[in-house]
Amino acid sequence: MLSYRHAFHAGNFADVLKHAVLHLTMEHMVRKDKAMTCIDTHAGAGMYRLQGDHAQKTGEYQEGIAKLWQRDDLPEALQPYIDHIKQLNPGNTLKTYPGSPAITQSWLRRDDNLYLYELHPNDHKLLNRQFERRKKVRVAQSDGYHALKALLPPPSRRGIVLIDPPYELKTDYQQAIKAIQNGYQRFSTGTYMVWYPVVKRGFIDDMVKQIQRSQMRNVLQIELCIQPDNNEFGMTGTGMLVVNPPWKLKQQMEEVLPYLVKHLGTADSSFSLKQLVEE
Ligand SMILES: C[S@@+](CC[C@H](N)C(=O)[O-])C[C@H]1O[C@@H](n2cnc3c(N)ncnc32)[C@H](O)[C@@H]1O
Repeated sequence: MLSYRHAFHAGNFADVLKHAVLHLTMEHMVRKDKAMTCIDTHAGAGMYRLQGDHAQKTGEYQEGIAKLWQRDDLPEALQPYIDHIKQLNPGNTLKTYPGSPAITQSWLRRDDNLYLYELHPNDHKLLNRQFERRKKVRVAQSDGYHALKALLPPPSRRGIVLIDPPYELKTDYQQAIKAIQNGYQRFSTGTYMVWYPVVKRGFIDDMVKQIQRSQMRNVLQIELCIQPDNNEFGMTGTGMLVVNPPWKLKQQMEEVLPYLVKHLGTADSSFSLKQLVEE
């Protein structure tokens, strides 16, 4: 248990999709003056060194962010994400990659709060070191699913929740959906994002059914498949389920997904964008 380290995967194609969606969601949230609460149930280490041993061992970021960050024909909707990457990497070498905590934190205003949960002792230590001086950010080495129950609804009744488990355990597929279902019952106007890998299509189909059978309304499914589905060879694609997405997100993804297929994929790659449940 707890063998997953995100440092091996930081900046890969799945992070590109997840982090582009996270930026667009945050950009939308800060348009209103009202304070918000952000919750990241599976936070990881917060920031990653792409020249470090972990990232260099897999080289996954070379097939993700490395292919995009210096392009000059980006769709407008990828700009906030790529601007953040460029800000962290002022030279010509890609050295630093922000995880979801650093992305969310980059949008926080004076009255917003960010809650981060990370179980792995090493990643928790790194995360804590990064945020210990930030008054509006709280870091805990505890179960993010469990913590979510106590935090919803947030006092300001505005907030986002990111659920990004490692899926080392097959139970994560149902647990992630159960967590947003429970959250939705207490806070139905919140925005919930669940990230998932496409490893076995059956697991995703079950998640979708679980959502369609629930009370949740307004659910968008965003998917980027680098290879066709294949139940045997690891992660071939990635997706996000977004409950109460920003109203422009679908339209923005219509522009982003074909671009990602073109620049990160091959002739066999594909995307899909579905309104799973109407408003
Ligand atoms: C995919 S990584 C997170 C990456 C991060 N959200 C990002 O986008 O930069 C998943 C993390 O969840 C942690 N984890 C696994 N189960 C957890 C749980 N029940 N509660 C909190 N953290 C957990 C793992 O140690 C791992 O660091």
